[in-house]
Amino acid sequence: KKASIGVTGLAVMGRNLARNLARHGHTVALHNRSEQRTKELVEQFGDEGDFIPAYSAQAFVDALERPRQVVIMVKAGAPTDAVIDEFVPLLEKGDVIVDAGNAHFADTRRREAALREKGIHFVGTGVSGGEEGALHGPSIMPGGSKESYQSLGPLFEDISAKVDGEPCCTHVGADGAGHFVKMVHNGIEYADMQLIAESFDLLRGAGGYSPAEIAQVFQTWNSGRLDSYLIEITQQVLAHTDAASGKPFVDIVADQAEQKGTGRWTVQIGLDLGVPISGIAEAVFARSLSGSSNLREASRGLGGPSRAPLTGSALDTFADDVEQALYASKVVAYAQGFNQIQAGGAEYGWDIDLGKVASIWRGGCIIRAKFLNDITAAYAEEPGLPTLLTSGGFRKAVEDAQDSWRSVISTAVRLGIPTPGFSTALAYYDGLRAERLPAALVQGQRDYFGAHTYRRVDREGSFHTAWAADGRPESSA
Ligand code: 6PG
Repeated sequence: KKASIGVTGLAVMGRNLARNLARHGHTVALHNRSEQRTKELVEQFGDEGDFIPAYSAQAFVDALERPRQVVIMVKAGAPTDAVIDEFVPLLEKGDVIVDAGNAHFADTRRREAALREKGIHFVGTGVSGGEEGALHGPSIMPGGSKESYQSLGPLFEDISAKVDGEPCCTHVGADGAGHFVKMVHNGIEYADMQLIAESFDLLRGAGGYSPAEIAQVFQTWNSGRLDSYLIEITQQVLAHTDAASGKPFVDIVADQAEQKGTGRWTVQIGLDLGVPISGIAEAVFARSLSGSSNLREASRGLGGPSRAPLTGSALDTFADDVEQALYASKVVAYAQGFNQIQAGGAEYGWDIDLGKVASIWRGGCIIRAKFLNDITAAYAEEPGLPTLLTSGGFRKAVEDAQDSWRSVISTAVRLGIPTPGFSTALAYYDGLRAERLPAALVQGQRDYFGAHTYRRVDREGSFHTAWAADGRPESSA
């Protein structure tokens, strides 16, 4: 018997994907650079399904049904190219190579174009949900050709998470679309995490709550509109006591957030596309600031306001106010992320169904949340929606939240608690709804120093004013 699919790269993500496939009744060929991992998988989990261990690239390829489907799960970058180079000579027209790692979508586009010339389908696929997701059902975001999805789709839909009976997997779009969407997923993940972290900081610093009390607050939120995986794990992290010190776990962890790079890519591409994804950008910058030890060390003595926590009625409503601020800021972050996907789709010619993206993020992935149902509904109602903020439900919820949102941010400013995520989200909201922006003045400045010209509100055409030339400003077409 031959295998319907093979996995090469059997570190934890690859191993768990292979096990997930086998547990669903698919025969899986296994391959790893060092034999040890392959042997271990078969020894430990061989009874979970049908595995065909292969100890050379050739044996691996020979074990596969045609068209062959090879899933690569190795480190992004050079290691991925090395594995592709190793397998391509052994494959034939019509075969499919899947890169299920966190590749940069530009690399995926390059690889897809190169392999298309050889008649091989290259499918860059986003996979979210960490180790547990890979084993029990991730959210899967495949790009590549429609043709490749005919054979691959049923397998991936089978092993993906399910919500309301629907698989959290869809063909996202051509070439790099899957990895692009996974990248934005991670950017939104960064923003969501930062907003939750700011909520914690405020509840503690302004509200005087202990980590255990904040865990309780998050538990309550998790049964409402913020119901999500990230809120759920936040509650667990905050409730955890460090065994060695007896202190709240959150107090013994070094406060320097690391990053592997997908959030940074999201921001870089956001800049290239000219999409204001300020919530994601602030989240990346907040991690960078936290990790800037020298800067922080040098700045420790800088003056700030005295930090008397809230009392009385302000304290009574504070947790609810923070919930509203978190919700509204989260809507902004998602609205920005979806706009980036829309812009990426337009730039690279992908036909991405935004509502469908929201629906495959409802389960399996790190940002899975009840909230995503509302995003799917918003796009179903109005497919050309310019921003989630103007869709019926979100518009009302954010308008209703804004008094609390503004009050939480002013409390933060007054007490000197940094809330870059909340603040930038509100600034974006106010920027969008503004009747007139001071950008008009910026245009005037540009025209003054560089004759960069400006457009007028009352006439067509582009204009330049002879500013300093004769001391008397005058307009000319
Ligand atoms: C997922 C996660 C996953 C990984 C991130 C973490 O969707 O399953 O996003 O891809 O946990 O790469 O990223 P950082 O190390 O950059 O925080």
